[in-house]
Amino acid sequence: MPSVTALKSKDGAVYTTSTGAPVAEPYAVQKIGQIGPLLLQDFHHIDLLAHFDRERIPERVVHAKGAGAHGYFEVTDDITDLTCAALFNKVGNKAPTTVRFSTVGGESGSADSARDPRGFAIKIKTEEGNLDWVFNNTPVFFLRDPSKFPHFIHTQKRDPQTHLKDADMFWDYLSLNPESIHQVMILFSDRGTPNGYHHMHGYSGHALKFVNAAGKFTYVQIHFRKDGGFKTLDNNQATKLAGENPDYGLQNLFEDIENGKPPSWTVYVQTMTPEQAEQYRYNILDLTKIWPHSQFPLRRIGKMVLDRNPENYFAEIEQAAFSPSHLVPGIEPSTDPVLQSRLFSYPDTHRHRLGPNYNQLPVNAPIVPVANFQRDGFMAINNQKFRPNYQSSLLPLTYKPKVYENAQHELWLGYANADLSYLTELDFEQPRALWEKVFDNTQKDHFVSNVAGHISGVKSPEVKARQLSVFAAVSQDLSDRIAKAIGHPAVKPLVVKPASESVRFKPKAL
Ligand code: HEM
Repeated sequence: MPSVTALKSKDGAVYTTSTGAPVAEPYAVQKIGQIGPLLLQDFHHIDLLAHFDRERIPERVVHAKGAGAHGYFEVTDDITDLTCAALFNKVGNKAPTTVRFSTVGGESGSADSARDPRGFAIKIKTEEGNLDWVFNNTPVFFLRDPSKFPHFIHTQKRDPQTHLKDADMFWDYLSLNPESIHQVMILFSDRGTPNGYHHMHGYSGHALKFVNAAGKFTYVQIHFRKDGGFKTLDNNQATKLAGENPDYGLQNLFEDIENGKPPSWTVYVQTMTPEQAEQYRYNILDLTKIWPHSQFPLRRIGKMVLDRNPENYFAEIEQAAFSPSHLVPGIEPSTDPVLQSRLFSYPDTHRHRLGPNYNQLPVNAPIVPVANFQRDGFMAINNQKFRPNYQSSLLPLTYKPKVYENAQHELWLGYANADLSYLTELDFEQPRALWEKVFDNTQKDHFVSNVAGHISGVKSPEVKARQLSVFAAVSQDLSDRIAKAIGHPAVKPLVVKPASESVRFKPKAL
């Protein structure tokens, strides 16, 4: 066994304490005599232990398990009619990009192949600051009322007493909040178990607003479509991988990039004018609905390539802080209440998880200089030198005028706040289309067996019957097939109000 002190580093690095002082021997502790007590003066040993004690930062409250990589976003088409964002001012513009993919409910060590939506968080560093698109791999979500989010997430996590995942909690929430059904239909299809992290599409889900130089805004939905298509696992494959290689997705992404197979996506928008939105059948601020491609075709805007692995996972992926509120002029949030809540929640959690100067960490730092009046706080690395920390006339900052005014922002408010929990037949149309028109026979079989496998763990008869009635409101055939698979009697559909009673169709005055 060679002595560690006889080893020679390849890059000339000499072992030191965190203050840079060389230390002759890594394992030695200072003690009195051969077996005597340790000495408090041993900075090297305390430095080692005390830093180790603080290695863990809070994991993300959701999306804790993930994988990420770097690359670039490139503008492929002229969309200056839609947005004045500098990123899009010229075809061919390229911006450095970092992406983090994730599962949602599990802890940071949980299996990559879990049945769950996947996060698809993108940070594009533009000449006007960072643009974050914090998307999922599904175009819809479980809710449209943001106050439900913590309740919903708690039911997908662990029971407070047993600390176990609990099928009763899971289905209790979903059956009590049937607007979740569209996402449930996707989650329990094979799309709920994507094959790794980088063979999937990404969707904004929310309507965002692109604003052009004239101040005209257009609602957009953004789609990242995986070149080569998305790949899924069936339930058996996903379960097997969860046992045999829980880090399957992380490993595959790393190896594909390392082996010169960088994944890429073509990026599109669907667009809708405010006038079209007013007339549209669905509330476009309702995150449980999609915009059909037949009516709102995809328009190509760019491409994204991930071609560089992190050199340090913690610094470049764990410490990455994505937020839907990290926007640039020309790209604005809509009034979707879930999006509006997210604008607050992400920087709030970053300040807790990474500290108030999270945007100074190298992975988050913009490529453009930052100049403002924020100073100090934990880990203020770029404290802006001698620049005055107040609005000074002696060394003033320059202010860049706005390209457009916000005047049009609130012209159209939609009905989002009025029908958050108001359920009508409208909520079942798109899930029904999935069952009746999109799923083929194999997909239907998989869906039934995936739901049956999960819901058979529910102990409460009321919860089971209630969720079957939600499935029956989508399609009696679907509900009957699940009921048969779990040995449950057939259940009648949940009674919902007709579409004509939706607040969406009430007179326009707000
Ligand atoms: C992560 C809150 C809905 C996509 C997170 C985090 C929080 C959060 C607190 C942890 C962030 C961090 O620690 O850095 C919420 C709230 C929501 C909501 C309050 C609704 C009211 C959504 C929706 C989407 C989404 C609708 C997608 C359309 C993501 C993604 C991440 C994430 C991709 C992981 C980001 C990363 O990789 O760092 N969310 N979320 N979330 N959320 Fe949400």
